[in-house]
Amino acid sequence: MNASSPSPAQNQASTATLYGGVTNRRITVRDLAAAKQRSEKWSMLTAYDALTAGVFDEAGIPVLLVGDSAGNCHLGYETTVPVTMDQMVMLSAAVVRGTKRSMIVADLPFGSYQESPAQAMHNAARLMKEAGVGAVKLEGGERSARSIELLVEAGIPVMAHIGLTPQSVHAFGGYPVQGRGDEAAHQLLRDAKAVQQSGAFSVVLEAVPAELAAQVTEQLSIPTVGIGGGPDTDAQVLVWTDMAGMTAGRVPKFVKQYADLRTVLGDAARAFAEDVRGGAFPAEEHTFH
Ligand code: KIV
Repeated sequence: MNASSPSPAQNQASTATLYGGVTNRRITVRDLAAAKQRSEKWSMLTAYDALTAGVFDEAGIPVLLVGDSAGNCHLGYETTVPVTMDQMVMLSAAVVRGTKRSMIVADLPFGSYQESPAQAMHNAARLMKEAGVGAVKLEGGERSARSIELLVEAGIPVMAHIGLTPQSVHAFGGYPVQGRGDEAAHQLLRDAKAVQQSGAFSVVLEAVPAELAAQVTEQLSIPTVGIGGGPDTDAQVLVWTDMAGMTAGRVPKFVKQYADLRTVLGDAARAFAEDVRGGAFPAEEHTFH
């Protein structure tokens, strides 16, 4: 064992709770599996920069997702589709640098894994080696099963993402709820079982009826992470800018806004500008002599 190898204790799944539990190392896939065993629900937030990620890490959020929602929530695009691998590597590396305890999962962006399992392997390896993330996420159920298998065989933990998959926004013609009706519900169940069978350690269920998300959660042994999937999934994820009230305009029905940062930040900027205009800033205590 070299100096940076995990100790035998670190190799064990912690029996402590994920939230407020183990604090001397990063959360692992084994900790998440153990949480499902004891029916402990957990939270995941997106993060796109070191500073914000550090706040969530200190707050005890066990898993942070460098989502390709960075496209619309951080980089100013309309959708996730334009996000590139180079952008994901840069944002993911910043989130890793800003955190100590959270498991960091990074999205494989549109076009970086659909061509072939080999392409998925190449780009997942970039996120692991260049950014230092602990896991990758990719969209698709049965259609992505072979890629998931290859990554898992290579030792890369994979979080799958089924239901509403935002990279397919143009094919869906928007962001409609998925899994409604018998055939769609059966397909969602097949997708969930396919990603578990392929070795995914967890699966995101986005915008699906709560009853169906509950059924999937009951039938899978891996944790389900809901976003617009009702209350019965093992975990819940929100896009941080929605959760904290930074997003401009309408947010989806499944979002709960826990703060109004857009107003707080706007008020701070206006107060600063007023002080500068009126000569109240800088005052004596901000001035060198
Ligand atoms: O990119 C993202 O933020 C996501 C979440 C919505 C799960 O995939």
